[in-house]
Amino acid sequence: MSSLSRIPSAFRHLPPLVTSLAVALALGACAPEDGADSPADRAADPGASSHADPARTDGVAGPASQPGGATLGTSHAADVAPLIARQVADLAEPASSALIESLGSNLMAAIDRDGAVGAVRFCNVEAMPLRRQIEEEAGLSIKRTSWRVRNPANAPDALDQTALDHFAAATGAPQPWVQSDGGGGYLFYRPLPTGGVCLNCHGAPDQLAEGIPEVLRELYPDDRAVGFSEGELRGLLRVSVPRDALAGAGEGPD
Ligand code: HEC
Repeated sequence: MSSLSRIPSAFRHLPPLVTSLAVALALGACAPEDGADSPADRAADPGASSHADPARTDGVAGPASQPGGATLGTSHAADVAPLIARQVADLAEPASSALIESLGSNLMAAIDRDGAVGAVRFCNVEAMPLRRQIEEEAGLSIKRTSWRVRNPANAPDALDQTALDHFAAATGAPQPWVQSDGGGGYLFYRPLPTGGVCLNCHGAPDQLAEGIPEVLRELYPDDRAVGFSEGELRGLLRVSVPRDALAGAGEGPD
């Protein structure tokens, strides 16, 4: 039950929130960063998913070891060709990982400098320029969304809602999912599971770390992103891949 139970012993001498954040950051917590290790990584190394509770109750996230599947691949909507889905994933995965890593290390510095509550402020303010930097470098745009958002700016649009519905209905270990954006481009969605550490800022009221309820009330008066359970999907990281980025990648006239 305690979010601290999964924290490596090396961190246990630290104050709980800092400890949790250290682990969360290792997992890429708090910004488009939160998903941490990719589902592909988890498939390759089931042990790496120990922060996510495999005993889900809603069927969205599955056990670490996929039944019958050695490779955790990208799935896609019916109107997306498998080859295209693969190419979209090849472009989108590195950008999502870069963002996770960059935010993780910068957030770590924010904790050192400003403490845990300062880290929340970092998520709120400084995450944006970081995201834009990655977006510019990759030529892709990135968003996070969820069934229940903390920042209204992250609310799902109609296509995001389709993706959320897909993930809510999916069985087994959640895999990245690709759908058309309706304009020739594609949307890549990476699931972000709720690890124990996420509960410090996204758990039930009695699981939130000290000082967090107050700072959330101040910064996010419309916050709906509490009450998540360990193992539940917290949300999705979306990478938009424009048609141009796929030039010559399979939809050509040959
Ligand atoms: C230090 C507190 C903190 C921790 C720990 C934390 N988050 Fe967050 N999270 C936030 C804040 C603050 C926001 C709002 C950011 C913004 O303004 O866009 C947020 C937003 C999000 C969003 C975007 C959707 C929304 O609700 O606005 C997702 C998805 C998310 N977090 C997932 C996670 C996951 C998964 C973990 C654990 C691996 C995690 N978070 C850990 C503070 C935290």
